[in-house]
Amino acid sequence: MPPAAAQASTERLAAALAGSGYALEPAFISPGDVLALVDAMRARDAAGEFRQAGIGVGTARTERPDVRGDRICWLDSPGSLAEQPVLESLDALGRGLNRKLMLGLQSLDTHYATYAAGRRYVRHLDRSPRGIERVVTIVLYLNADWGAEDGGELVISTPAGEVVVAPRGGTLVAFMSARFEHEVRVARRERLSITGWYSRRVTAESAA
Ligand code: OGA
Ligand code: MN
Repeated sequence: MPPAAAQASTERLAAALAGSGYALEPAFISPGDVLALVDAMRARDAAGEFRQAGIGVGTARTERPDVRGDRICWLDSPGSLAEQPVLESLDALGRGLNRKLMLGLQSLDTHYATYAAGRRYVRHLDRSPRGIERVVTIVLYLNADWGAEDGGELVISTPAGEVVVAPRGGTLVAFMSARFEHEVRVARRERLSITGWYSRRVTAESAA
């Protein structure tokens, strides 16, 4: 994204997060970037880097594909060059949110997610792993030509009602992690995304 467009997008996202607490950016990345990321994702899948996603944290972790049906691959090892500019844009967004909202975000953890046809993720609140506090959730969709009949909508429960987001390629959604329960409706075909969390470290003092 050219710097001016990136700055405008950061400003819109920050204003929406400060207001309603959730934000949508329909063309955060270009259709070409979407295709490049899908290729990068498929290469990691072919290399065996994906695993069934779990629910619960630490020793309470279990796999319940009927509750949470995606397979994921954490973006913490170097992969395709196509991933770098997108991860850099997301890092820049985190710095921008810190400047504008003073959220004290310290890290961004991201993973690819793929839901096969028939899979969903029931209504939930994003939980934080031990030692960190997830502050802002983001999801970047990688589905070219997604239609209404394909399902797989993200539904965010807000005090004003449900916000329904189609997982169209290039769309970025962001919301304050602790404030909104949300679900992924059953996808009728393969549904791809990058999901991430901007987090703060939890110190003994702030946890007390
Ligand atoms: C999650 C999640 C939403 C989506 O992975 O925790 O809620 O639209 N994902 O993929
Ligand atoms: Mn979630």
